Amino acid sequence: MGNVYVIDHPLIQHKLTYIRDKHTGTKEFRELVDEVATLMAFEITRDMPLQEIEIDTPVSKAKAKILSGKKIGIVPILRAGIGMVDGVLKLIPAAKVGHIGLYRDPKTLKPVEYYAKLPNDVEERDFILVDPMLATGGSAVEAINSLKTRGAKNIKFMCLIAAPEGVDAIKEAHPDVDIYIAGLDEKLNEKGYIVPGLGDAGDRLFGTK
Ligand code: URA
Repeated sequence: MGNVYVIDHPLIQHKLTYIRDKHTGTKEFRELVDEVATLMAFEITRDMPLQEIEIDTPVSKAKAKILSGKKIGIVPILRAGIGMVDGVLKLIPAAKVGHIGLYRDPKTLKPVEYYAKLPNDVEERDFILVDPMLATGGSAVEAINSLKTRGAKNIKFMCLIAAPEGVDAIKEAHPDVDIYIAGLDEKLNEKGYIVPGLGDAGDRLFGTK
């Protein structure tokens, strides 16, 4: 059964405040998103399994632990998810990176996949799906569908800010997926923005409008 984790570490909360602030410019915004992604990755990897091996230190033999679990795949949802990839890679540098792109069909308003490129050993990996904003949850649910269809079995979803509607959508469609959030906000507004949120994450990361 998946769980929802709001990571309220003081460093994350401090940085998230400046990420939210509309006076924070593109360069600083990008750096802060990168830093928060690294800090969240520390938390998201907390349950990684370990195995004991024997090594020689310069002083004696020692039993010591190394990671024993599956390899990791990081998958940003295009485009804003890209802003979180390097931050996660700092802690898991050997991870492979896939990409999933979705657009919203103007008639059905449902997300439709236009791009998916994943590591070729999907079934052998655990996945961290990243997107800064979990709004309605439509894209996240569809991206998880996409990963599962290709054979992924263990998926964690990581975002900076979530609306309750998005959390509920993932829990409903994919109850096995753990959700990691830095800030759980109040609601969505009529334009689909998270309130208070941070505005458009992609525009703020890439300096577009
Ligand atoms: N996507 C964003 O970038 N911002 C929101 O507030 C909601 C969705």
